[in-house]
Amino acid sequence: MSPEDSNRAMNNRQRKINQDSDIPTYYIFTYGCQMNEHDSEILAGQLESLGYVPSESEKEADVILFNTCCVRESAERKIYGKIGSVKKIKKEQPHTIIGVCGCMVQKPGEEKRLKEKAPHIDFVLGTDAMHLLPEMIDKASRSNNTVSRILENENRPIIEHLPKTRKDSFRAWIPIMHGCNNFCSYCIVPYVRGRERSRQPQNIINEIKELVEHDRTKEITLLGQNVNSYGADLSPEIDFADLIAEVDKIANRKRIRFMTSHPKDFSQKLIETISETKHVCEHIHLPIQSGSNRILKRMNRKYTREDYFELVKNIREEIPNVSITTDIIVGFPGETEEDFLDTVDLVEKIEWDAAFTFVYSNRGGTPAAAMSGPIDEEKKKKRLQELMSRQNSISLKTNQSLVGHKMEVMIEGVSKTNPQVWASRTRTNKLVLLPKKEEESTKPGDELTVRITEARTWTLFSKRLS
Ligand code: 5AD
Ligand code: SF4
Repeated sequence: MSPEDSNRAMNNRQRKINQDSDIPTYYIFTYGCQMNEHDSEILAGQLESLGYVPSESEKEADVILFNTCCVRESAERKIYGKIGSVKKIKKEQPHTIIGVCGCMVQKPGEEKRLKEKAPHIDFVLGTDAMHLLPEMIDKASRSNNTVSRILENENRPIIEHLPKTRKDSFRAWIPIMHGCNNFCSYCIVPYVRGRERSRQPQNIINEIKELVEHDRTKEITLLGQNVNSYGADLSPEIDFADLIAEVDKIANRKRIRFMTSHPKDFSQKLIETISETKHVCEHIHLPIQSGSNRILKRMNRKYTREDYFELVKNIREEIPNVSITTDIIVGFPGETEEDFLDTVDLVEKIEWDAAFTFVYSNRGGTPAAAMSGPIDEEKKKKRLQELMSRQNSISLKTNQSLVGHKMEVMIEGVSKTNPQVWASRTRTNKLVLLPKKEEESTKPGDELTVRITEARTWTLFSKRLS
């Protein structure tokens, strides 16, 4: 989900505002990945347990939070712009508390930079420190300076049972682990999110059981930077395949999704477990990052294009109709035309259902930032365009092969572009639009059967059969 989508979705929830001006209000800007989406649900939950209610916009909020991302420079630039824009609010309503949380503030030197560039911020709070939010608000309201709490690696606890205000009632994000140990050479995540720490399986199971019991949650997404290495730090021994087998037993007609998977840890046992379980959806997000072995090595990805190809072959053999999506970075330092063509070649050979393509962004402090052969911005953009146009025709082709098929979809909400249309998803995570009826009781989380009538690159159109 894009940051824009996430803010829009959060806004929808914020519409149920309480007009009573005595009640304090909050507004959260969320940027980045699903883990951040979930962290914002915890930030919101904490605020609501202090008596705050959501406000319609940042302008009338008593507390404004930025839950930040730093995976690419473009996200950071956008966040700094937005932080700058709330300076006016602070000037007009000095009681407003402005907090910057999450990944960006965890970057070495960033806290200082934030304080210098945006002195109107009241507090800075690092990742894995959401439980300290009430304390920070209290401190900030009594201080004239920017106060901060940033937990370093050894002090990052996994806090269970924090209050959460979930954005959607029909689906839930469930983090199963925090941090990352992979140190892909371009990636800042291990530096800002710390080392891998798995949640105890019983805590995960209990959280899901509670959601399933109330029967409102229809879809569960297990989250982690690299879910395939779940449990490596736990004893007694458990791995991700064991965990999803357990979750499947309690899922009771729910959909189970998971992300993100690292190809190097995707075991045959996991493939078999996915194919044997009933509720785990047939969609695997499996980032390749590059189709060139030379670049994969420089990226420290620990697999070759041949390994990836073999893995996809096994997955497709064992899990019928599976959809596989990926992430690709173009313009990594030292990427030659030949390396790029290797990626294009793999795009054509693998035929991913969809690929999220990114221009390489230099992240200070990562090994790639010090590598030779930076690619100029024009060339990066040209490569991105070429890759996207190849992938788009493949996505269209895979979608077209579904025209005429009968599919089960889950309603997610009203289409963003047309209020007469429902947006829904197949188990394979394809977006399917279907017309709304004049009067109906359909609601998000309902499952319907549709027939696919038309395919576009990112969307399928359908008519209802049930
Ligand atoms: N530059 C560009 N893209 C990046 N990603 C991670 N780090 C960078 C970077 N420095 C991409 C990867 C990852 C996705 C979440 O973001 O493709 O899978
Ligand atoms: Fe970053 Fe690699 Fe970890 Fe993913 S697996 S978060 S790309 S270091």
